[in-house]
Amino acid sequence: MRGVFVTGTGTEVGKTVVAAAIARTLAATGERVAVFKPAVTGLDEGGEADHELLRRAAGSAQGDEEIAPYRYGPPASPHLAATMAGEEIDPERLLEAACAAAGDADALVCEGVGGLLVPLAGRVTRGMREELAPQPPERYLVRDLAIDLGLPLVIAAPPTLGTINHTLLTIEAARAAELSVIAVVLTPWPERPSRVEESNRETIAELGEVRVETLPPLELADPRSWPALPLLPPC
Ligand SMILES: Nc1ncnc2c1ncn2[C@@H]1O[C@H](COP(=O)(O)OP(=O)(O)OP(=O)(O)O)[C@@H](O)[C@H]1O
Ligand SMILES: [Mg+2]
Repeated sequence: MRGVFVTGTGTEVGKTVVAAAIARTLAATGERVAVFKPAVTGLDEGGEADHELLRRAAGSAQGDEEIAPYRYGPPASPHLAATMAGEEIDPERLLEAACAAAGDADALVCEGVGGLLVPLAGRVTRGMREELAPQPPERYLVRDLAIDLGLPLVIAAPPTLGTINHTLLTIEAARAAELSVIAVVLTPWPERPSRVEESNRETIAELGEVRVETLPPLELADPRSWPALPLLPPC
């Protein structure tokens, strides 16, 4: 499967924007791009959901179910949102759905959920208290999905103070599982970066031994106005 798995240093760090920019870049060169998001939560909060922005950026005709097989209203981590809906996320179903989404597309752009160590599946039998318990090994993590899909990672991260540690931890967690990291993308990258932001970019590149790209603030309503973010070699 040719494509990319966009993870991040946490939640609300720009994964969707980075994944959308990658998808748009591929689509703009005439590639057929499929998008995938294993689980979407927080639909109750309104606004454009992740799978909707991804579809728009990719110019894809995929249905909601094809992009995001598990969709939940509450703004909770996916395994908890599933539990609250009285079900459990099935890793096999995720893999089948991702492969079906990739179908005969030229590339698959997959956005993760939260960060790499977020559990997707695994029973929460004691409600919220289970959140405090050590993670049982049978949990299926976002990282496991990236491994099973065989996709290289792009890591979205903010450029601001605190990002060095979060980004280097994410790179370590990726490489510990032999996942390859194409690049870190700092987003939104200001027109006039501060000394801290410039230093963060250099420090992450040096200590993480990784390519670091930046993405300026995008007009999300108009993908045609976005600068290219060419992170995948041409097919
Ligand atoms: N380059 C950018 N241009 C415009 N907005 C941006 C940019 N980068 C980040 N943002 C904004 O930052 C916020 C978080 O971005 P985004 O939704 O992509 O994060 P996320 O990691 O996908 O979040 P979640 O964990 O909920 O999936 C959004 O409001 C988004 O519009
Ligand atoms: Mg997102």
